[in-house]
Amino acid sequence: MQKAVLITGCSTGIGLRVASDLKQRGYRVFATARKPSDVDMLANQGFEATQLDLDSSESISTALEWVLARSGGELYALFNNGAYGQPGAVEDLSRDVLRQQFETNVFGWHELTCKVLPVMRKQGYGRIIHNSSVLGLITLKYRGAYNASKFALEGLSDTLRQELAGTAIQVSLIEPGPIESQFRKNAYQKFQENIDSNNSAHKEVYAAVNARLSKTDIERQRDPFTLGPEAVTKCVIHALESKRPKPRYYVTVPTYLFGFLRRVLSTRLLDKVLLKISDDENK
Ligand SMILES: NC(=O)c1ccc[n+]([C@@H]2O[C@H](COP(=O)([O-])OP(=O)(O)OC[C@H]3O[C@@H](n4cnc5c(N)ncnc54)[C@H](OP(=O)(O)O)[C@@H]3O)[C@@H](O)[C@H]2O)c1
Repeated sequence: MQKAVLITGCSTGIGLRVASDLKQRGYRVFATARKPSDVDMLANQGFEATQLDLDSSESISTALEWVLARSGGELYALFNNGAYGQPGAVEDLSRDVLRQQFETNVFGWHELTCKVLPVMRKQGYGRIIHNSSVLGLITLKYRGAYNASKFALEGLSDTLRQELAGTAIQVSLIEPGPIESQFRKNAYQKFQENIDSNNSAHKEVYAAVNARLSKTDIERQRDPFTLGPEAVTKCVIHALESKRPKPRYYVTVPTYLFGFLRRVLSTRLLDKVLLKISDDENK
């Protein structure tokens, strides 16, 4: 029997690629997106597709009911993936903007996971895979909201894994570094929408942040260490198929590097390295 996998954020990028790769591998993929036009696109590509907006409890419930009605009440795995990055200095984040970042990247994932867990407990097995980030391991300037959301996700996932020890429900985190997707374009839009650059103490550096985020995909692909989204699929497949899935999967050289540095350096020394990186990228 085909194993059913539910994936969020399949309109573009990593979600779309992982959905396609898993379908090709023989999984029964329930691909979700928040915009109806993307749900149509996914259905046209042969997916069982439905709308799922992580910002809406109602949408999460309706989508999961839709999936379970088709899968006979079973779900082998959940790949939590849909998210965005809100750029901007910490002091320029309004309460609402920070809350919105958490609504999508943390609370939506948490709510969906909590609704899936009783299904997995009843069937006696399951895999929860969260697409976190290298920015859930280390921080970089002007990414505070996103950093905080991924650090929160790391905390919830580590705790959940401990609470599920002894069951056959496994929790894994994927930690990608730079991956080709629409992430930067979407982050740039959030920067423009939500950050008042002209009235900020960081006004000058925002010109460079603007230039970096507005890079085209072609320019970005020239960035060293950026991988295609298929690099994430490899880890998702291991997390789905291994008898002993890893708690964390590092993807890209920067993740291995920063994962190592955060273990061996003092906070002060790590700050020096990370400050140099942000200063270089925002020159
Ligand atoms: N690309 C990278 O370099 C990178 C690195 C580390 C981690 N990640 C993580 O990888 C995951 C996927 O990102 P990506 O790189 O593939 O970027 P992407 O191309 O921008 O895709 C993000 C996906 O999330 C969806 N999404 C956003 N808000 C949502 C909401 N409220 N409800 C449901 N879906 C929502 C987007 O849908 P819309 O099209 O409707 O906006 C889109 O499908 C994210 O968790 C991200 O944090 C990415």
